[in-house]
Amino acid sequence: MPDASRPMPGAASLLPLEISSLRYDVGEDRLIDNISLTIDSSGISVIMGANGAGKSLLLRLIHGLLRPSGGDVRWNGSALNLATRQRQALVFQKPVLMRRSVAANIDFVLKSRDGQDRQRRDQLLQEAGLYRQRQQPARLLSGGEQQKLALARALATEPEVLLLDEPCASIDSASTLQIENLLRQTRERGVKIILVTHDIGQARRLADDVVFIHAGRLREYQPAATFFDSPKSDEAGAYLQGRIVI
Ligand SMILES: Nc1ncnc2c1ncn2[C@@H]1O[C@H](COP(=O)(O)OP(=O)(O)OP(=O)(O)O)[C@@H](O)[C@H]1O
Ligand SMILES: [Mg+2]
Repeated sequence: MPDASRPMPGAASLLPLEISSLRYDVGEDRLIDNISLTIDSSGISVIMGANGAGKSLLLRLIHGLLRPSGGDVRWNGSALNLATRQRQALVFQKPVLMRRSVAANIDFVLKSRDGQDRQRRDQLLQEAGLYRQRQQPARLLSGGEQQKLALARALATEPEVLLLDEPCASIDSASTLQIENLLRQTRERGVKIILVTHDIGQARRLADDVVFIHAGRLREYQPAATFFDSPKSDEAGAYLQGRIVI
């Protein structure tokens, strides 16, 4: 339950996200190449692109976990800083969990914010379909269950912006629908979601707008309907048709 004493997450408060001439180099390799983009929409922005396009790097740069080689990222005019980052939650492509029980992974986050709130923890675990496994060590969960726990833990922090890197990568279709419903509910509560996925079906079901990157470069940023009906870059067109683009 959102705590009434704390301001409700506000979609607009951290937006717009302004990315200007963003670069990320490793040695001679320019992995993110001069990306400029402003996201000012509520709802779900999906980042798409082929394997190795730079999606995960872009998400880390947006969140401030990586320092850009050039250019900058601003959230509502502020340069990246700890305060901005604490209003966001990022769920990694490979979940990082504590070596404790499933329930303790959630309690840890709730405790550090609210004092222990068992009802809220159980609700989060139920929504993620993990209530039955709550006393189990988190490391014994399957890959897909670990992803669900990482998402539940991120939601426990009541972020204003939720950044997700392939949250359904090892999740079966029933659980994928469950996660997608959770994301829709989260969107309805006003949380801004930036979702990396290469699942085209999932992008069609969830995206309000789509950022398409190819070889570290921005190819297009469009409302979802426009992107899926008439992608303007050859790379996005090929990607949507299932042709590999490298
Ligand atoms: N620290 C690093 N040093 C060198 N190359 C890196 C480093 N981090 C990422 N890369 C390279 O940058 C490119 C983009 O990586 P990234 O993880 O962002 O891809 P991605 O779009 O998320 O791909 P996937 O769909 O497979 O998750 C890849 O070719 C990757 O090998
Ligand atoms: Mg990735």
